[in-house]
Amino acid sequence: MDWGMKNRLNQVIQPDGRCFFMAIDHGYFQGPTTNLEKPGKTVTPLLPHVDALFVTRGVLRNCINPQHTKPIILRVSGGTSMAGGDLANEILTTSIDEIIRLNASAVGLSVFIGSDYENQTLANLSTLVNECEDHGIPVMAVTAVGREMEKREARYLALCCRICAELGARVVKTYWCEKDFDKVVKGCPVPVVIAGGPKCETETEVLSFVHDGLQQGAIGVNLGRNVWQSKHPVAMAKALNALIHQKLSVKDALHVFNESKTAEPTVLV
Ligand code: 5RP
Repeated sequence: MDWGMKNRLNQVIQPDGRCFFMAIDHGYFQGPTTNLEKPGKTVTPLLPHVDALFVTRGVLRNCINPQHTKPIILRVSGGTSMAGGDLANEILTTSIDEIIRLNASAVGLSVFIGSDYENQTLANLSTLVNECEDHGIPVMAVTAVGREMEKREARYLALCCRICAELGARVVKTYWCEKDFDKVVKGCPVPVVIAGGPKCETETEVLSFVHDGLQQGAIGVNLGRNVWQSKHPVAMAKALNALIHQKLSVKDALHVFNESKTAEPTVLV
């Protein structure tokens, strides 16, 4: 592996082999998501506790202070919306020149396997890998399901992750599933990162599925709503960081959350 590729992977994946990516890319198809109306304001207090930010070029340019030194994973697929017909009908939105200009440490795009746009989105992945590999930029494939959340079971996720790795993704982001998540990870020859999904009812629920996913071989998370839609986003980010990097138990991470939240003003969602 070339020095540039190794270096960029090391920017986003920490020396312990683990990672905490924070996703704030939701607006690319959802518009101004709750608590992400002003992304710069939302992320500023959370940045010290995460390893990288998953963001579109528009929000990066307009809302994120370039003095921040956290690595950027640029979201480079899109072209659909909640108001449109099919969320899977994505294209590549961002040129390789723009990826380089914005100093991205990595890029991410969604693939929709099993959908009407399977071929198109896998072609997007292949094109992106071809362009990014030339420049030593890692590609993170996101195994997306659009509105079909029931698809998130091990056999399907294992299929998706393996295909993404076969096509050249350096990292794959996929959903955690209750049964056989270890088989999803084992079948994928590149590191697997857990996606979040809609906000859970409790902090314990979030910490538990992340802990379980890590135990079963995931290297970290790419979470959004379960962090910045929490009533205590900084406490949640601190607890997740400790769970991931200090390898705390759920109980101890919850203790970090409870200790931190007393020092943090409540955010009304
Ligand atoms: C949206 C994404 C998000 O980055 C991903 O879903 C993580 O955010 P959340 O934890 O809120 O689901 O890829 O398509």
